[in-house]
Amino acid sequence: MATTPHFFSLPSLLIASVVIFLLSSVASAIGVNYGTLGNLPPPQQVVDFIKTKTIFDSVKIYDANPDILRALAGTGINVTIMVPNGNIPAMANVENARQWVAANVLPFHQQTKIKYICVGNEILLTKDNNLISNLIPAMQSLHKALNISGLPDMKVTTPHAFTVGYNLNAPSQSRFNDDQKDFFAKILEFNRQAKSPFMISAYPYFMMDPNNVNYAIFGPSNAITDTKTEHTYNNMFDSVMDATYSAMNALGYGDVDIAVGETGWPSACDAAWCTPQNAENYNLNIIKRAQNIGTPLMPNRHIDIYIFALFNEDGKSGTAEKNWGLFKPDFSPVYNVGVLRGGETSPPPSSSEKWCVAKQEATDAQLQANIDWVCSQGIDCKNISPGGICFDNNNMKTRSSFIMNVYYQSKGGSEDACNFSGSGVVTTTNPSTSTCVIQNMEDGSIHMETTNIDWVCSQGIDCKPISPGGTCSEFEINMQTRASFIQYG
Ligand SMILES: *[C@@H]1O[C@H](CO)[C@@H](O)[C@H](O)[C@H]1NC(C)=O
Ligand SMILES: *[C@@H]1O[C@H](CO)[C@@H](O)[C@H](O)[C@H]1NC(C)=O
Ligand SMILES: *[C@@H]1O[C@H](CO)[C@@H](O)[C@H](O)[C@H]1NC(C)=O
Repeated sequence: MATTPHFFSLPSLLIASVVIFLLSSVASAIGVNYGTLGNLPPPQQVVDFIKTKTIFDSVKIYDANPDILRALAGTGINVTIMVPNGNIPAMANVENARQWVAANVLPFHQQTKIKYICVGNEILLTKDNNLISNLIPAMQSLHKALNISGLPDMKVTTPHAFTVGYNLNAPSQSRFNDDQKDFFAKILEFNRQAKSPFMISAYPYFMMDPNNVNYAIFGPSNAITDTKTEHTYNNMFDSVMDATYSAMNALGYGDVDIAVGETGWPSACDAAWCTPQNAENYNLNIIKRAQNIGTPLMPNRHIDIYIFALFNEDGKSGTAEKNWGLFKPDFSPVYNVGVLRGGETSPPPSSSEKWCVAKQEATDAQLQANIDWVCSQGIDCKNISPGGICFDNNNMKTRSSFIMNVYYQSKGGSEDACNFSGSGVVTTTNPSTSTCVIQNMEDGSIHMETTNIDWVCSQGIDCKPISPGGTCSEFEINMQTRASFIQYG
């Protein structure tokens, strides 16, 4: 029953959304999980592929495989390694932890940039009390052992499955479950002291309402407004992140960084919602979220994100489990999520991108005057009108920045076009938020944004021609053509 809406809406979604967002600000901080349960190429080939063919700058592995760590030497790629679950009880002893570091870290360190060491994986789910009770002591020992070994900056953490009591309609009211509160408070205290991130696996795939798959895949769906904060969520991932933050904050640890150790979407499973298109759409939006756009409760916050997974792994059991990969073992893409360098949807380098935004000290009166002026110049102001994507709780700076930037970009990024009597300033920091993506046309490349299709097609723009069966719906048709069609059509 869930298939019809999302099968029919996705193509038009992808296409029409191209229109608004000719942007992008991809600042490259995106990681990938390199699992090895399959018939895969040797580590050196895999690492060469990651390094030369993809935009991934971080890799997470599920052990401390020396062949992989050696292959990663000299690449500049940040690496997350893992202490296997079974080692946790022994690791509670500092001397054992020191030996583990001597055997698994010191031989590779420096040439291979080990950033995080995860102690076990989703330990609460094991329900093994010996592992659970030794987890924090093991993390403390490892932290000490690293310090003794001269590596005080290497960060120790542990990935958690998402076990927060999730409130879909009010993410801000989500809390850790009572029986896990003490455990998480201790973990978070460790994270704070050790300056390491609280790492979670975030999978809307496992949490969604099958009748509302679109909300989970960043497709067109009704937004949910948090009943307490009135922040609007148009996708489940942002909502899950804010639920996590709210649970942490309620325990007094809102300042601790969050990292997403795993997230993704399978391209095949026994249900209709596992398609390459849905996986592509999900992961495209995840990549965008690795660019510091933040969430309603964590605006502009940096979150390290690792997509699950690099490869389809045929050594796993179950159709879904085998099909989480972005690539097949022969390195061909399962779908094009834009992580290939030089690929058509590959994000451009970010260094030279510029936006025009309102100065911090500009007054509301000045900014309103800028809005009025720009809107009188034939520029479309629907985005900042009620119901528009950048109307954003009546925030004057967001609205004026959005529209001042549209003007600036329309003038080819000329400095003068951002003066606005001294109230505008050019920045290289992407001002976009999770709901209001502020475009940038630096190199004319096209990047797809998917959250706002409802808006596009509700604004009097006829979306029939780009819907299935429409005259412009062939996905093969050049992206620019479709974009132009909807823009001027
Ligand atoms: C690797 O991690 C370090 C430490 O957090 C960070 O400063 C650096 O920018 C990261 N490098 C890449 C390529 O992500
Ligand atoms: C790390 O070592 C330094 C000196 O060697 C010490 O002052 C510091 O307290 C240690 N930190 C931890 C977390 O053990
Ligand atoms: C911006 O405008 C102000 C006031 O109109 C003017 O004094 C200033 O020189 C302008 N700045 C630039 C960089 O053109």
